[in-house]
Amino acid sequence: MSSKELHPLRQQCVQGVRGQVLEIGFGTGLNLPFYSKDVVEVHAVDVNPKMAPKALHRIEEVPFPVQHHVLSGESLPMEDESFDFVVSTFTLCSIAKVHQAVQEIWRVLRPNGRFCFLEHGLSPDPKVASWQTRLNPLQHVLGDGCHLNRPMDQIVCSQPFQVRPIQTFYLEGVPRVIGCLYQEQAQKPA
Ligand SMILES: C[S@@+](CC[C@H](N)C(=O)[O-])C[C@H]1O[C@@H](n2cnc3c(N)ncnc32)[C@H](O)[C@@H]1O
Repeated sequence: MSSKELHPLRQQCVQGVRGQVLEIGFGTGLNLPFYSKDVVEVHAVDVNPKMAPKALHRIEEVPFPVQHHVLSGESLPMEDESFDFVVSTFTLCSIAKVHQAVQEIWRVLRPNGRFCFLEHGLSPDPKVASWQTRLNPLQHVLGDGCHLNRPMDQIVCSQPFQVRPIQTFYLEGVPRVIGCLYQEQAQKPA
């Protein structure tokens, strides 16, 4: 996750992010250095309580406040339409009720707000996809609930976001079963 190869992708993912921001599956805060000074506040959500202490040094280095919450992305206590942006990187693969989480993302986004995501998922190449399906049970155990073969475009589009066709691409130097990436900023219409 901390690999330097991912830095440009993390940067692209949060490009233009400003105002009130919610990041789900915050982990150790690896996206924080890429946020711009136009961010007013980040609410960071992660279900794993062990992540918060590991994120502390990154939280201390940014010029905006970061409120950390140990919570599940499937059920957020935040008010409707309270965020300008929601960010998720490599998280939708692990959330058990992922459609419910996307519904929550939709709910907390303001009209014109954007959902910025960078995720790995199902390959459009049938050969790679069949290996993803075969290896999925193993990955689920080894990768702490991670799924290899989620169709991230369909999952995001389960809510009526305005989104360009979501492109997939492979991350260089990573096996294709885990390195098929989906990246886009999906907008909630006004
Ligand atoms: C592979 S890590 C990615 C961390 C970070 N987003 C990054 O890009 O480095 C997935 C993160 O999602 C968190 N997570 C898993 N299920 C979750 C859920 N239901 N709600 C919130 N966070 C969750 C895990 O605890 C973990 O920190």
